[in-house]
Amino acid sequence: MTKIKATNITWHESHVARKDREELLHQKGFTIWFTGLPSSGKSTTAFTLEHELTKRGQLAYVLDGDNIRHGLNKNLGFTAEDREENIRRIGEVAKLFADAGFITMTSFISPYCKDRDLARQIHENNGLDFIEVFIDTPIGLCEKRDPKGLFAKARKGEIKGFTGVDDPYEVPLKPELILDTGKKSPQELVVDLIKFLTKRRLIPAPIAK
Ligand code: ADX
Repeated sequence: MTKIKATNITWHESHVARKDREELLHQKGFTIWFTGLPSSGKSTTAFTLEHELTKRGQLAYVLDGDNIRHGLNKNLGFTAEDREENIRRIGEVAKLFADAGFITMTSFISPYCKDRDLARQIHENNGLDFIEVFIDTPIGLCEKRDPKGLFAKARKGEIKGFTGVDDPYEVPLKPELILDTGKKSPQELVVDLIKFLTKRRLIPAPIAK
């Protein structure tokens, strides 16, 4: 639970409405929250989607777990409390990006349901769409890929509390979308994501030629 220490603060209302930014950018800001085991393919999927959206003329940005832990969240480790704070901060940052008009993607293990639910609540309380995407790659495949060699280290006991080995991952109960990177390529998954977002009217359908 976050201890609130900020006191004597006053909300300052902007003179520019979200709608004004949407008109300026010709798009709606929202968040796609990718969650899944380490090496499940969250970042690959998110960055491939970011690339495709950019090619379509949409402003998109990925907040990636490993990248954010190089900067903003470099003071957080991997205890349940630190992971909670990691996700709380990114829930808030994603909300700000989505409010600014970006198609925002987050790529974090985010192993706990309650932390992901809080990120959803932060968005929905602010009238922003939140799309939870579960990258449901079987652990055997994540471990076989192991591009950073971290599963191997965790199995040897060189990393303690590694998600999927000796730390929990709570499967999302009602994600908007479930993707399996074992069955489809990143490009094929992006086709599915684009179809989903178009159907939800979060992005425009391509103009027929
Ligand atoms: S989260 O659990 O707090 O959401 P996050 O997505 O930010 O995790 O960071 C995960 C990345 O940190 C992994 O991709 C991996 O490279 C690295 N990492 C280092 N230690 C651990 C660990 N104990 N458990 C999981 N990932 C770890």
